[in-house]
Amino acid sequence: MSPFKRARLSVFGLCFFGLLAGGLARGASPAAAATAAERADTLLAQMTVEEKIGQLVLFSGYGTTTGPLPAQQGLEDHIRKGECGNVFNVMSVAQIRKLQKIAVEETRRHIPLLFGYDVIHGYKTIFPICLGEAASWNPPLIENSAHVAAREGAAAGLDWTFAPMVDIARDPRWGRISEGAGEDPFLGSVIARARVRGIQGTNLAATDTLLACVKHYAAYGAVQAGRDYNTVDLSERTLREVYLPPYRAAIEAGALSVMASFNELNGTPATANSFLLQHILRDEWGFTGFVVTDYTAINEMVAHGSAVDEAEAARQALSAGVDMDMQGGTYLDHLQQLLAAGKVTEHQIDVAARRVLTIKFKLGLFDNPYRHCDAQREQQTLYAEENLAAARRMAGESFVLLKNSAQTLPLKTGAQIAVIGPLADSQRDLLGSWKGEGDWDSIATVLTAIRRENTNGSVTFARGCDLDTTNQAGFGEAMAAVQRAEVAVLVLGESWNMSGEAKSRTRLNLPGVQTGLLRELKKTGKPIIVVLMNGRPLALEEESQLADALLEVWFPGSEGGQAVADALFGRQNPSGKLPVTFPRTLGQVPIFYSAKNTGRPLDPADPHAEYKSSYFDCPNDPLYPFGFGLSYTDFTFSEVRLDHPVLKPGGKLTATVTVTNTGTRTGAEVAQLYLRDLVGSVTRPVLELKGFQKLELQPGESRAVSFTIGDNELSFLRADMTVGTEPGEFQVFIGPNSRDLRPATFELLSR
Ligand code: NOJ
Repeated sequence: MSPFKRARLSVFGLCFFGLLAGGLARGASPAAAATAAERADTLLAQMTVEEKIGQLVLFSGYGTTTGPLPAQQGLEDHIRKGECGNVFNVMSVAQIRKLQKIAVEETRRHIPLLFGYDVIHGYKTIFPICLGEAASWNPPLIENSAHVAAREGAAAGLDWTFAPMVDIARDPRWGRISEGAGEDPFLGSVIARARVRGIQGTNLAATDTLLACVKHYAAYGAVQAGRDYNTVDLSERTLREVYLPPYRAAIEAGALSVMASFNELNGTPATANSFLLQHILRDEWGFTGFVVTDYTAINEMVAHGSAVDEAEAARQALSAGVDMDMQGGTYLDHLQQLLAAGKVTEHQIDVAARRVLTIKFKLGLFDNPYRHCDAQREQQTLYAEENLAAARRMAGESFVLLKNSAQTLPLKTGAQIAVIGPLADSQRDLLGSWKGEGDWDSIATVLTAIRRENTNGSVTFARGCDLDTTNQAGFGEAMAAVQRAEVAVLVLGESWNMSGEAKSRTRLNLPGVQTGLLRELKKTGKPIIVVLMNGRPLALEEESQLADALLEVWFPGSEGGQAVADALFGRQNPSGKLPVTFPRTLGQVPIFYSAKNTGRPLDPADPHAEYKSSYFDCPNDPLYPFGFGLSYTDFTFSEVRLDHPVLKPGGKLTATVTVTNTGTRTGAEVAQLYLRDLVGSVTRPVLELKGFQKLELQPGESRAVSFTIGDNELSFLRADMTVGTEPGEFQVFIGPNSRDLRPATFELLSR
């Protein structure tokens, strides 16, 4: 019996396997005493070049694809031959165990496979899309949802998730804006850290954590014209100030893998960009994990025009610091010949293989390759009650109340309600894109949940129109339903597959005739509540006037229908804040709060003045600003109090406001701190978010909220590209969003 057959039989066997692979083979002390890197080195010394290359190969399995190529043919053979050390898109303990068994029992070196998958906002229990979660401005809750997702993914046999996606995005045409945390580097960094903590926990080898993969590195969110996979051309300053901080934050939080992005950056594809992958990632940030490509991104360098063929593309990628080739097969097909031709060195291959193996050791895969393959745990964990409860809570906190005239919301139970719209009774759309293994055929739609809540009233439903056709045949039925009701709830927006990868749009309107339906129903004179599902900011100027109340619910996940009903009936008081600016019209894009002043700034008191930086056909300001969101209660902010009017370099000052709940319901408000450095060696944005605190207040309750301001908050990338402060005047602003702010001023003294 081979040691590996024995390994299957007992825990002792599994330990024995681990010792053999990383410890005993060295003829040294027990494996536990050696570090993961030492164990990787020992193993590496025993491997052939072919086997090392196999560790750099990641193939998609079993028919599920998340990219343009069909599933890898002959996957099991590749594994058996040691040509493929990593697999993605294989779900369930049973399937994973089957492949893992081939790797650990049938290959020469018995190296366990690493199993990855896109567990983006849930595995089975689906949470709101990531942009929605970001709108909660609640990092602990986001951390928890990432942890629940990781726990379910790990219970299904996975080791690795391609998350968090931390791309800053300021162009709503780009469909992948839905996958990130919005437009702001500070908020994005806080959320990136929370997600990494949630995914990886404190113990990578635990049974309820996954390896995180920070993506897409770098600046993927800056694709020109918001068209997916398009070119990115950015100054180093903007790259460092706006786009890089969340990747860095995720790495500082401990993320041990990074996915290079599809785009080119300033002429070099990210996949072969040594400035990004070596200089910044490893030399500046000290990243020690491995880098994987995005799906066939090495092959795509031929189309980019930066490599003459795939062999050359593979050479460039390895040389730039890409350790693993996702699905493209270029490392498998070309590295050996490149080595024989002296175009790459064995040392380069060793470096990459060592990084992958080290992580496999850290994950505990050598000690127990089946550590996540427990069918009973799988069964108990997926859709566990507490996971669904967490998803419902997260959904509730992600909703942003954009308008609520005359307290149209919350609804009283017992009302006669007409529920209208193409998304009102849709199950699939609730889950959004990247729905993991989430099922939708059993989840409650918004309509179902409203019916459930409004038992002592009446609920009629009329679809009104399709999501994206010109057909108005349903308008009449919808009109009749609203005429008979006291209030109408319209569930409108985009379908789940209008945002996400390769889902760029050139319009930011509601698709089809949905706005026409709203216009029509407004004629009834009944109060109209619009519930919006969408994966990007939409331009809703007309809709925002027609609706009496507007509730942004994104794609809210498995428990989203119920969470919408919770919010509509006031069981949950909305507290979300926009993580991204909502423009009035597409022509304002890119529009973000953290803009520069220009030499001819528009004076808000004189918006039509000539020769100002403005549009003659549209105001400069957005429809809904970054950080905006209402509540069923009201909050006031006091003046900002500073404990010092001046600050010495290296010193700290405290800015305080008092927030009061002046309404009649308990609610949560987010106090947001922004700074402006009035004069710098390079110009600074008019506002930069530097802190926030979410606080729940009872009716009538007041609370003082303080923020500490010091070098951290005041530093920036100066003209000479060093990071530090400069003396001079600063403005401090605190308020409930980036528009309605209370100012104060202080001076930073010279050294
Ligand atoms: C392509 C996507 O860009 C990336 O986000 C994803 O993780 C991979 N495919 C794997 O599915």
